[in-house]
Amino acid sequence: MDNFTFYSPTYFVFGKDTEEKTGECVKRFGGTKVLIHYGGGSVKRSGLLDRVEKSLSDAGIPYVMLGGVKPNPRSSLVYEGIDLCKKEQVDFVLAVGGGSTIDSSKAIAAGVVYDGDFWDFYMGKRIEKALPVGTVLTIAAAGSEGSPDSVITKEEGMFKRGASGDAIRPKFSILNPALTQTLPPYQTAAGITDIMAHLYERYLTNTKDVEVTDRLIEALLLTMRHEAPRVIADPDNYEARANIMWAGMMAHNNSCGVGRSQDWNSHDIEHELSALYDCAHGAGLAVTMPAVFKYVMKHDVMRFAKAAVRIWGCEMDFDHPEVTALEGINAFQAFLVSIGMPKNFAELGAKEEDIPKLVDVLCNGNGRKGTLNGFATLDEKDCTEIYRLML
Ligand code: NZQ
Ligand code: ZN
Repeated sequence: MDNFTFYSPTYFVFGKDTEEKTGECVKRFGGTKVLIHYGGGSVKRSGLLDRVEKSLSDAGIPYVMLGGVKPNPRSSLVYEGIDLCKKEQVDFVLAVGGGSTIDSSKAIAAGVVYDGDFWDFYMGKRIEKALPVGTVLTIAAAGSEGSPDSVITKEEGMFKRGASGDAIRPKFSILNPALTQTLPPYQTAAGITDIMAHLYERYLTNTKDVEVTDRLIEALLLTMRHEAPRVIADPDNYEARANIMWAGMMAHNNSCGVGRSQDWNSHDIEHELSALYDCAHGAGLAVTMPAVFKYVMKHDVMRFAKAAVRIWGCEMDFDHPEVTALEGINAFQAFLVSIGMPKNFAELGAKEEDIPKLVDVLCNGNGRKGTLNGFATLDEKDCTEIYRLML
């Protein structure tokens, strides 16, 4: 196991009706003037926004609002949010929505207290300071409710990049699984896929002897395997949604990733797809992961064989571990298809003729230097082959 530090101070409030505690939570973390940031309207239609506003008003906390965050959140709204917070002297940013809204809120929170352009953070500068952020989560997926990360799409060039720093870890996150019951099935499935990707990207490690985190990841993947079909069959299944929601947080606050190298090549390869085609990040991952896994399998075939046996119940072929490894990858893809996820470029709305452009932005765009360095090192030729495997 590698040396590590782990700092995860988010205060979680989990369960039914917990959004009623929003005002109390903002107070607890010192907010006196709030920006409520939200997306394209689902929180209005569900009545959640009204309940959050009431909770702030009951606690005597003034607020301003900024809606309109799109999935794959854009830089232009971040600039607007930064200006609004400065003008209104906001000292707390409250995200009400999914990963996109939370990420946009984190970007605003970091940008308000920074003299330069907030995009510097998405070019690699670490975020050291930000306004406090709180979240009321409406979809189990990105894990941004417990992560120190934010992913934003820059409109000029339509590429997506991430920024990081403990300063943007949410001070509190309110997780009411019932709020996810209004999700369309496709979004529920995309969220499940993203959660599983966060687990797989940590499972694919080059660090030896990491049994404790291996076993935690396996437990969470097995939970997803159990709960996903239940929630797809019955979207109102609160218990299944509760397990998925907490698994989504645990998958990405890095409790399963400490002390081990991690992959993230699938995420980087997918981010170019959701940036260019505006597809759901989870749907892009459903197409990307099997292609990446098949391509890099030879890098450590036993790791894929272990996943096949422990997660997908495959029988180990000791003479031909590559057969077991491939069986596990195919079982994973079949599972994703069974919950309604796409399996190739066409189903995602991606185009073969865009592959050179995707590869160029992926490997050379915005600070990259020709390779992706995860579980295996991938150059432009490798990435081209991987996109071609998705056709
Ligand atoms: O915008 P509204 O109207 O709210 O609709 C959203 C959106 O259309 C809808 N939705 C959310 N909750 C709902 C609901 N509809 C009905 N009922 C509800 N309860 O779902 C759609 C997707 O929302 P979004 O916030 O985009 O989903 P998600 O949480 O999957 O976030 C995706 C973004 O997170 C980034 C992705 O790249 C993508 O941009 N990621 C962020 C990470 C992080 N910060 O740590 C890590 C992830 O790997 C990921 O890259
Ligand atoms: Zn993700």
